[in-house]
Amino acid sequence: MILVTGGAGYIGSHTVRRLIKKGYDVVVYDNLTKGHEWAVKDSKLVVGDISDHDRVCNVIKKYGVDSVIHFAAYSLVGESMEDPQMYYINNVGGTMSLLKAMMDCGVKKIVFSSTAAVYGEPEEVPIKEESRLNPTNVYGRTKLIIENILKDYDMAYGLKYVSLRYFNAAGADDAGDIGEDHYPETHLIPLVLKTAKGERKDIKIYGTDYSTPDGTCIRDYIHVNDLADAHILALEYLRENRSNVFNLGNGSGFSVKEVIDTAEKVTSRNIKRIETERRPGDPVVLIADSEKIKKVLGWKPQYTELDKIIETAWRWEMKD
Ligand code: UFG
Repeated sequence: MILVTGGAGYIGSHTVRRLIKKGYDVVVYDNLTKGHEWAVKDSKLVVGDISDHDRVCNVIKKYGVDSVIHFAAYSLVGESMEDPQMYYINNVGGTMSLLKAMMDCGVKKIVFSSTAAVYGEPEEVPIKEESRLNPTNVYGRTKLIIENILKDYDMAYGLKYVSLRYFNAAGADDAGDIGEDHYPETHLIPLVLKTAKGERKDIKIYGTDYSTPDGTCIRDYIHVNDLADAHILALEYLRENRSNVFNLGNGSGFSVKEVIDTAEKVTSRNIKRIETERRPGDPVVLIADSEKIKKVLGWKPQYTELDKIIETAWRWEMKD
């Protein structure tokens, strides 16, 4: 039985669907502050907090959990800078409590949601796993702290982990019934599509004077189902009692302007853009080198074209 913390969230709910399709037994554990009950379709849902040690232990014992996929975390860079305490308490404190509950109850396998934010402003692109780790925001620091804790717990207690450093998650399941739904929404693709839909007047481009061909920031967009599949491969890897860290991206970069242009083509609508100041803390270019996960886990992304990724997000956005 797999315990999925944050399984009612964006990436969590897509992973749960893929796990169930593959025949895994899943129990979702989510406090529903960011996740949605409607996103948990085909698995059990226990509403609870990762910091509630006894509740986590009870769930582990009741369902016979043998591995954990841990998504539950706050994930907004800007918010993490305004309220670091909230991020350290939840992302670091909450995860430490979860790890204690796991070990107290004999569960020693975890897939951990990490982030490209652990690299900060990269020294080289594409970014490799051994590149310098130098997060420039609190969110990235909370994730790096946990990566280091996992290494220490592995050496001391034999806890096996796979840390997955996601680049920019995007898109939605082809079925169109689960997708990205954050409040507040801050991510580029959903905001661009809400503008195309007419829910927002315009999309603000944060900075047009970067050292890139069109002056806007470049990111590596990776489909949420491709991320989900990597978690399943990571679980299988953990069964052989090994630990590792992997990047997860498509390996190609798109600028903010290219994303908006692509969205205009996909939606056949004009999207009004307004050029504004840079957003503090945005690295210029983030592109993953994901060769390691391809080689070691045999991961192969299915959605390699940006227009295909945006198409799935558009279908979700237009569902009602
Ligand atoms: N952007 C705009 N206008 C907007 C929103 C975003 O121009 O209204 C730009 C951003 O400045 C950035 C790019 O679009 O250059 C992508 O921004 P997102 O907010 O969609 O994503 P980020 O790259 O900032 O964040 C992602 C993840 C974080 C992770 C971070 C690592 O969502 O969880 O990558 O840097 F921490």
